[in-house]
Amino acid sequence: MRTGGRFGHTEEPVDTLLARTNYFRETYVYGEEVFSPDAAFLMDHDRLVTAARRLHGRPVIEPSILYANVMVPGQELAVHTDVPEFRGANRKTTPQWLIVVMHHSGLFSEWQMPIATGICYFGGGEGGELAYYPDGPGGDARVYRPRHNTGVMLDTDSVFHGVDRVRGDEAQLPLITARQRLGYAGDETWEVSDADGETVAKYRTDEIRLSVSWKAYCFSDQAERDAWRAHSDDLTLGTILDRLEADLRQRGTLAGERPPDAAFGKMLIDAYIRFPAAG
Ligand SMILES: [Fe+2]
Repeated sequence: MRTGGRFGHTEEPVDTLLARTNYFRETYVYGEEVFSPDAAFLMDHDRLVTAARRLHGRPVIEPSILYANVMVPGQELAVHTDVPEFRGANRKTTPQWLIVVMHHSGLFSEWQMPIATGICYFGGGEGGELAYYPDGPGGDARVYRPRHNTGVMLDTDSVFHGVDRVRGDEAQLPLITARQRLGYAGDETWEVSDADGETVAKYRTDEIRLSVSWKAYCFSDQAERDAWRAHSDDLTLGTILDRLEADLRQRGTLAGERPPDAAFGKMLIDAYIRFPAAG
């Protein structure tokens, strides 16, 4: 919203912006929990594991999650970095915005888990290109155009990235709201249904953009993996906030008392997170 995004969409009504980004997700595997045995074969897929080793130059790969994103025509995903993970600070223990601040501050790198993200594309759909900034937020965007049965591997915690708009008939886009479900109805047709089970929109298979994302921890050796498993060197919330506060004071951003939580949070986001400029 602040930078105007890749295409300057901020003129649109809030409802439209929400519908554009309110895409569908299905989790197949999360840690030890397997929700879709049919998709689980991708977890240890050779090509993904090999690419992840190359990405960080770390040989011990521990696949952690697998999920699908499904987008319909008119949907897109604004430029962002993913929520990373630190020993002692993950989505289950720590607010996501704070984890992103921790990453961009660079103050906690010794606790950070190097993660590789693979995005696999299946089926058709028009648009929905992956836009990413390999030279940092100040550099130019590059674009990967998805093709059936291909994948990309990148460090989505560090590299800003987004999904350009899925092209096609946007007539049904305003009907997409929170808490709806998308399901296959047979005959190459997908139906969006609301909380009551009423069908509110229909799409053909070749209109939707399906990607399956895979994330894996990348360790340099077994000892590092063991330290993560044993929680022998975990951060605490107190340590995290104290270290950030000390850094703000050193930068001259903060003087006097630490502000109340909400104001302190906004101060941290403004101080550390820099998005790419529009265009
Ligand atoms: Fe992402």
